[in-house]
Amino acid sequence: MTMAPTDQDDAGSLATGAGVIATVLAAARAAAASRGLISDPFAAPLVHKVGLEFCIRVADGDLDISRLGKDGGFPRLAEFSAARTKFFDAFFTDAARGGIRQAVILGSGLDTRAYRLWWPAETMVYEVDHPHVVDFKTSTMRAWGSAPSANRRAVGVDLRDDWPAALRRVGFDAAAPTAWVIEGLLVWYVPSDAQNRLLDGVTRLSAPGSRLAADHAVPPSRPQAVHNESLVERWRRRGLSLTGPGPFYSGEHTDVVRHLSESGWITVPSGIADLFAAARLPKLSVRELDGAPAAIRYLAATRP
Ligand SMILES: C[S@@+](CC[C@H](N)C(=O)[O-])C[C@H]1O[C@@H](n2cnc3c(N)ncnc32)[C@H](O)[C@@H]1O
Repeated sequence: MTMAPTDQDDAGSLATGAGVIATVLAAARAAAASRGLISDPFAAPLVHKVGLEFCIRVADGDLDISRLGKDGGFPRLAEFSAARTKFFDAFFTDAARGGIRQAVILGSGLDTRAYRLWWPAETMVYEVDHPHVVDFKTSTMRAWGSAPSANRRAVGVDLRDDWPAALRRVGFDAAAPTAWVIEGLLVWYVPSDAQNRLLDGVTRLSAPGSRLAADHAVPPSRPQAVHNESLVERWRRRGLSLTGPGPFYSGEHTDVVRHLSESGWITVPSGIADLFAAARLPKLSVRELDGAPAAIRYLAATRP
């Protein structure tokens, strides 16, 4: 894969550079969980374990990054996080009910679905991220005595390398239908050609009946990148230590929905307003929908 300009300096760390966003997202889930909007009992402890003061304050409800000014963050952070989390949770649960017994989370970060969701007994969940990230979660959860609720395989690999081979090595079965989740990754990190290559890898490994859920940047992504720069700058001023050029890719993205459709997937796109409605959360106003929330789209896809 082409090098993303952003994550070559600090591959795998959850406390510096690109990996920080995985910790910010977990902090947002912790904020949502503490308000009873979702159940993720591991989010806050994991954020504390990573040890970033900024994220700990978000997780503990001491810092509301929704209130850092126009470009400071996402409106109603806890609800925003809850709506997203429920979308991907429901996707996996529906896939399991539909008979799929193999799940892959690409760029899994501090996602704890392999520990907290209901999975049919024989389900295998593969979590793919930088080796340090998956190792951190595996060893921390083990030390806490928290067992996965599915058969879990942690796959420590750089997604710019031959990750399909790494998946196969630990038992991934390309002949069986798979439920894929790509959350956070396509919004922040990945240049267009790398994004297409990642999706093409997913397509090649997807037997008929496979499903995919993802969030992604709306093309052209330049406004989103400008917004992200401003957002990260405000976070930085509030003490988030981000090294390097920042955790986002500032070039154009290709249209994920179109690319997947051309590759034979049937895609159902949605926006954050749809996710709020599905989660039965109070509607976002037009002003709240401006900026980052509108620039991130969601999709669920199936491979006939
Ligand atoms: C924004 S975080 C999202 C984490 C998680 N999916 C969530 O929603 O909480 C993106 C994740 O992708 C991982 N990632 C980014 N570039 C990667 C690469 N080239 N290889 C492997 N993992 C990568 C990061 O380490 C990080 O954990």
